[in-house]
Amino acid sequence: MAERLYIFDTTLRDGEQVPGCQLNTVEKIEVAKQLEQLGVDIIEAGFPISSPGDFNSVVEISKAVTWPTICALTRAVEKDIDVAADALKYAKKGRIHTGIGTSPYHIKYKLNSNKEKIIERAKNAVAYARKFVEDVEFYAEDAGRTDNEYLAKVIEAVIAAGATVVNIPDTTGYCLPEEYGAKIKFLKENVKDIDKAIISTHCHNDLGMATANTIAGILNGARQAEVTINGIGERAGNTSLEEVTMILRSHKEVGIDTNINSQNIYQMSRQVSTLMNMPVQPNKAIVGRNAFAHSSGIHQDGVLKHRENYEIIDPKDVGINESSIVLTARSGRAALKHRLGVLGFELEKEKLDEVYEEFLKLADKKKDIKDEDIALLVGDVKKEDRRINLEYLQVVTGKGLESMASVRLSIAGETFESSSTGNGPVDAAIKAIKQIIKRTVVLEEFLIQAITRGSDDVGKVHMQVIHEERIYYGFGANTDIVTASAEAFIDALNKIPTKQ
Ligand code: KIV
Ligand code: ZN
Repeated sequence: MAERLYIFDTTLRDGEQVPGCQLNTVEKIEVAKQLEQLGVDIIEAGFPISSPGDFNSVVEISKAVTWPTICALTRAVEKDIDVAADALKYAKKGRIHTGIGTSPYHIKYKLNSNKEKIIERAKNAVAYARKFVEDVEFYAEDAGRTDNEYLAKVIEAVIAAGATVVNIPDTTGYCLPEEYGAKIKFLKENVKDIDKAIISTHCHNDLGMATANTIAGILNGARQAEVTINGIGERAGNTSLEEVTMILRSHKEVGIDTNINSQNIYQMSRQVSTLMNMPVQPNKAIVGRNAFAHSSGIHQDGVLKHRENYEIIDPKDVGINESSIVLTARSGRAALKHRLGVLGFELEKEKLDEVYEEFLKLADKKKDIKDEDIALLVGDVKKEDRRINLEYLQVVTGKGLESMASVRLSIAGETFESSSTGNGPVDAAIKAIKQIIKRTVVLEEFLIQAITRGSDDVGKVHMQVIHEERIYYGFGANTDIVTASAEAFIDALNKIPTKQ
């Protein structure tokens, strides 16, 4: 059976330190409840002395959450610890997380102190916190840049004072994975009674190594990882929960696992991103929009043949319904055929070739082809039997210019051309078409709509025209809205019965 790694989530404390991403108490409770569903072991709910809002959040989260341990942060200051203990009074399982800087930078420039005095303060803070709670975690701030011999002395002293968890933060994200792993190993091998406490990792991502460092720490004996959802946190952020969890699930040979219900990961990620107004970068591992999206023809073909050709995680395992095959100009027929199948279109080879040709033309104009676009393309190809077809349309328009359109139509196999000016490009195009068809057709209603998003999107046009007191409906779609309008008009014209 796999050994257990405790997940300590600090989204609501370190994660919430991101400028502009503060949550109110109600939102924090929502996140905490979701973290409980996700299966995290410890929720760091805030830094109670820092503000009445943080104090209140720790109180309310303690009441709202049932089984995870609720943790409150303090400095190695008695007043901080008093306030944290008070905030935790409703927690079923409460933990005080106290600590002090141990690196030469922090000792000299932040605390204006010396090594001996720091050890004294650390011991006293832990012993004082133990008066209120059984579970006391100590952090050696900037442990990443603290020399291992001195760090070992600090850790030994706080364990003797009653620390149950010892946190070794790489506060500035400076360590190399090997160096951080060696630090944990050194503590494991050189601190008396180290087995009386759990060693915790807390890695920042300033050099993009937070997850690598956390894993190095775990491989060397750490059994708690401090993480945030989506890796949010101070500056470049913290180690992300989803990465640590899925690394351990993907590498079963490591023999360490968490209590995380991985199918809840994606939903959790969306919730935090939405509440904090913090978009997830599209290429973010595990939860980014593109994490399971395949866009090149070779990869799409490979994934369709066998998912594991290009995926090491089944998207369903993290709560994403399926891998997405992103249709772009680089997609092949296999990907288009697959998407058509999903949309319910089974096309003969010849028809598929025609749709594929049209698809490539559209993909040249538009980066990302959506399902709606595909459905329209299939519809367009089906329109081949129409009597009237638009073969060519050119418009000249712009501010201070009178719009002008030239059109060429084929009607029952014969070609006709015309041009007209108009009150805008659509009006000019429709007038030019009317000159050719020589029927009294009145445009009754005209609705333009973008299908999805972005300026390169396909526009949809719905039209109603009246001919001899009867209404005919037309529809057109194109990345060029004037062409879409002309197509919609022609679509309506095609529905008018021809005179025998
Ligand atoms: O990064 C850090 O050192 C911290 C501590 C307060 C645990 O967040
Ligand atoms: Zn931190």
